[in-house]
Amino acid sequence: MIKKFFLYLNEYFSFRNIKSSLTIFYYSLLKQNTKYPKYLLSFESEMGKYFGSKYALTFSNGTTACTSLLYALGLKKNSKIIISKLTFPSVISSILRIGAIPIYLDFDKDLQIKKNFNQNKILEAEFFLITHAYGIPQDYNIIKSIKDINQNLVLIEDISHAQGAVFNNKYVGAEGLGSFMSMQGDKAISAGEGGIVFTSSEKIYNKLIYLSHLNRKTQDLNNDSNLLSTIGFLGKGRMNPLGAITALNDLKNLKNRNKLLREKIKFIHNNLSNFENLYFPKIDNYQNMGGFHYGVPFFCNSEKLLKKLESEFKIVKYNWPILDINESFCDPEKFINLVYEDQIELSNVFDKSNDLRDQFYFFDLKQIKNSNINLIKNKIILVKKNEN
Ligand SMILES: Cc1ncc(COP(=O)(O)O)c(C=O)c1O
Repeated sequence: MIKKFFLYLNEYFSFRNIKSSLTIFYYSLLKQNTKYPKYLLSFESEMGKYFGSKYALTFSNGTTACTSLLYALGLKKNSKIIISKLTFPSVISSILRIGAIPIYLDFDKDLQIKKNFNQNKILEAEFFLITHAYGIPQDYNIIKSIKDINQNLVLIEDISHAQGAVFNNKYVGAEGLGSFMSMQGDKAISAGEGGIVFTSSEKIYNKLIYLSHLNRKTQDLNNDSNLLSTIGFLGKGRMNPLGAITALNDLKNLKNRNKLLREKIKFIHNNLSNFENLYFPKIDNYQNMGGFHYGVPFFCNSEKLLKKLESEFKIVKYNWPILDINESFCDPEKFINLVYEDQIELSNVFDKSNDLRDQFYFFDLKQIKNSNINLIKNKIILVKKNEN
C-alpha cells in the first residue's frame, strides 16, 4: 500500500509534472493560452525534429488530425483505402464520411496484417493507412510486400500507440507521406486532448494549414495560402496551446518511459509465455517497441486461465467495436444514411465478431506502469502457484 502510494506520488508529483503545471499557470495568467503562441510553435518544431519529419502541425485531437490529413493527401469519394481490421473506429468513420471505401485486411495474433490478402483489392486501392497498435510496430516486410504489389499506394501511418517505436530503421511516422498521432490524455505524449500530423511535404503542410487552421498566418506560406486560411474549409482544428506544455514534458520523458515499459513487457512475456492457451504477439526486438497504450496485449482462449490472471492482475478486454463485418461501415453511402437516422438501432451497429478478437485481452497498462518489476514478479509467482 505504502509502496503504491509512493509510486503514484512519483508519477503525478514528479519535479517535471510540477514544473509543467506551473508553466501552464504562468501562460494562463498572461493570457497566452490561445491561437499560436511561441511555445506551441516551438513544441511543433521539437516534435518534428524528434520524429524525423520536416513539418509537424498540432490539431485539436487525433481524429481531426487524421481527417485533415486524409483530405490533404487527396482521399475523396470512392477512393479505396487499405486498413487493418485493427484500426481505431473514429479513423474508420473519418474515411467513410469523406465517401471513401475502406478495404479491411485481417490481422493475426502478432497484430500484423495477415498475408492472405487479395492482390486485386490491393491493386484497386490508392491509399494505405497502417496502424502501429499497442506499441508494436507493423512488420516492414509485410508492408513492403503490399507496397510492391501496388507501388502507387500513398502510405499514411497512425502512430498514436507507438511513439518511439521503430519501423524500417526509423521512428514510426517517418515512412509515410503523412502520419498522425493522438495526444489524448492516456497516450504516451499527452496534451490532455490533442493531435499532430507529421509530413515532409511542404505542399501537404501548407494545405493542412489552410484547410483546418483558421487564421494561422505563417511567414513560410505564400499570400494565397495565408488568405485561404481565413475560411476554415474543414472547420477549425487547432489545439488548445496549453496542451503543448504537458506534451513537451512527455516527449522529454519518452525514452525513459519506453525503456521501463519495454523491460516490464519483456519480463511478462518471458515469464508467462509457457502457459498453454496464452499467446503474446511475437516481438523480434523489444528495442523496436515504443509508446504503448491501453495494455500489454495477449490472446487467451481459456476462461480458467483468465480467472487466474485476473486474481493478480487487472485484465481488460479488447474494446474497439467490430465495424468491418457491418455493411454500414464498408459502404460510405450506407454509413451516411446511418448518421442521418433518427434513432440508430444498436443491434444494427454492434455486431459480434467471430474471430481472434474474441480472445483478445490486455494487462492494464496503468497497472503495469505503476508496478515495479519485483511487484510484477510476485504477481506472476502467485498466478503460477494458483495453477497447481
Ligand atoms: C490508434 C488510434 N488512432 C486514432 C485515435 C483518435 O485520436 P483522438 O482520440 O485523439 O481523436 C486514437 C484514440 O485513442 C487511437 O487510439
